Amino acid sequence: MSKAGALDLASGVGGKIEKKDVLNAVEKYENYHVFHGGEEEDRKANYTDMVNKYYDLVTSFYEFGWGESFHFAHRWKGESLRESIKRHEHFLALQLGLKPGQKVLDVGCGIGGPLREIARFSSTSVTGLNNNEYQISRGKELNRIAGVDKTCEFVKADFMKMPFGDNVFDAVYAIEATCHAPDALGCYKEIYRVLKPGQHFAAYEWCMTDAFDRNNPEHQRIKAEIEIGDGLPDIRSTGQCLEALKHAGFEIIWDKDLTIGAPVPWYLPLDASRFSLTSFRLTAVGRFFTRNMVKALESIGIAPKGSQRVQSFLEQAAVGLVDGGKKEIFTPMYFFLARKPL
Ligand SMILES: C[S@@+](CC[C@H](N)C(=O)[O-])C[C@H]1O[C@@H](n2cnc3c(N)ncnc32)[C@H](O)[C@@H]1O
Repeated sequence: MSKAGALDLASGVGGKIEKKDVLNAVEKYENYHVFHGGEEEDRKANYTDMVNKYYDLVTSFYEFGWGESFHFAHRWKGESLRESIKRHEHFLALQLGLKPGQKVLDVGCGIGGPLREIARFSSTSVTGLNNNEYQISRGKELNRIAGVDKTCEFVKADFMKMPFGDNVFDAVYAIEATCHAPDALGCYKEIYRVLKPGQHFAAYEWCMTDAFDRNNPEHQRIKAEIEIGDGLPDIRSTGQCLEALKHAGFEIIWDKDLTIGAPVPWYLPLDASRFSLTSFRLTAVGRFFTRNMVKALESIGIAPKGSQRVQSFLEQAAVGLVDGGKKEIFTPMYFFLARKPL
């Protein structure tokens, strides 16, 4: 079972960081970002430390509010958030043409929500690559409970330097993860190297769209809010991702920003102006309760000091994401299907 209770949330803040060091980690994390005088070059040079601190701090909040899969989804009217998340994962499996028994790599796998779903949907063996130890420990427990621990595994490593031989996977996918790479080309080249020739790589990338104007201060504010709230060094444009894929050697089969024309806006669950019973914890009222609960649990010492600050930068991220979505300058689902030539 996913750890979705209030006490799980509180005690999980900080992940593998010692509880007494959580506040210090929050300060160090915040200092990487623009609002606190941080520089893009510094974020890129120290991406492992920045991203790992971020996921140690936020993973229990993600599980509490969102579930086991840490991504947005294309959504139809009448579909619940949970249903849309699963369908978004199945879509990727279908695009990759997964066949039973294949060996698949999930790049930046979180606690393995998509990995378990895709492995069961396609009867494949999925390896989850992740550089965060806390998430891997959660993922292993959830794999055991789901009964996929014999066929799926986790590997702790950096996706910029993968510990795999050349040409070993039948398919590779990445869901809202390679946006953390300090350099897209370096990351895509590693994916290209480990993928068998003739096989496919599919991903949902976080990108700034063509509507983003870097000379517009409002657009820059939104971009910086998303970066601090989501542990990102610098959000790339869709064009930059496409170029990096081609430079890495991939043929592009097709690509599309799936937010365009989507029946339900992807950012709806985070929009403070709407109410939902099925994803109550994400609504303004739900977030008000969580904020006060975290405050109370921090004051009696169950949640480590610094927990409220984490809640606060996550709320800042939600504002940035909703604004970026409404202005159509940001997408969390720039989809592409690419092939390594024979
Ligand atoms: C937004 S989460 C998405 C997780 C998962 N794909 C999902 O949809 O549930 C991004 C993931 O990328 C992982 N990640 C970020 N940078 C990484 C790196 N350099 N190497 C390996 N994993 C990384 C994080 O630890 C996190 O698990």
